[in-house]
Amino acid sequence: MIKYNDDLKGVTARKLAGFFVGWPNPPAPATHLKLLNSSDLAVIAVDGASGRVVGFITAITDKVLSAYIPFLEVLPEYQGRGIGGQLVKRMLRKLKKAYMVDLICDPGLQKFYKNFEMFPATGMMLRNRRRQCGANILPKK
Ligand SMILES: CC(C)(COP(=O)(O)OP(=O)(O)OC[C@H]1O[C@@H](n2cnc3c(N)ncnc32)[C@H](O)[C@@H]1OP(=O)(O)O)[C@@H](O)C(=O)NCCC(=O)NCCS
Repeated sequence: MIKYNDDLKGVTARKLAGFFVGWPNPPAPATHLKLLNSSDLAVIAVDGASGRVVGFITAITDKVLSAYIPFLEVLPEYQGRGIGGQLVKRMLRKLKKAYMVDLICDPGLQKFYKNFEMFPATGMMLRNRRRQCGANILPKK
């Protein structure tokens, strides 16, 4: 059975293996764990039988108006069972007081997000590929 959790207690790097599929220079599981803990909001899907994390979604916010969902991923062998949909639903429920909730996705996924009353938009982005595996990104004060 799949359990959904916003409490990351007990989640170790070992339970986070296998994500960032197709990334040439992915973050290590320990960096992934840091990313989850540093996000304003995170929901994970856990396989109750093994304790393995099989899906996750994160959000970062300004706590007043806006939220951004940088990551949603379900491990390939768990896809197509409604887990991604549950993660989005649970995250949007947490963000129900936000004015704007944005994310970037491929055109093929717009149909999936339309299930949650999201609508397509045009955007811009920047990628620093050398930093794909993670870094301390805030400048020192
Ligand atoms: C997108 C993703 C999270 C969906 O998770 P999931 O558990 O398979 O989702 P669900 O089972 O709840 O829903 C599957 C739906 O998503 C659609 N879908 C999944 N991946 C898709 C893709 N790459 N392109 C188009 N549609 C896709 C399926 O066709 C299905 O549609 P349906 O509900 O009309 O049948 C998962 O495919 C994934 O991790 N993909 C790789 C990472 C990614 O693209 N993340 C999104 C970043 S914006």
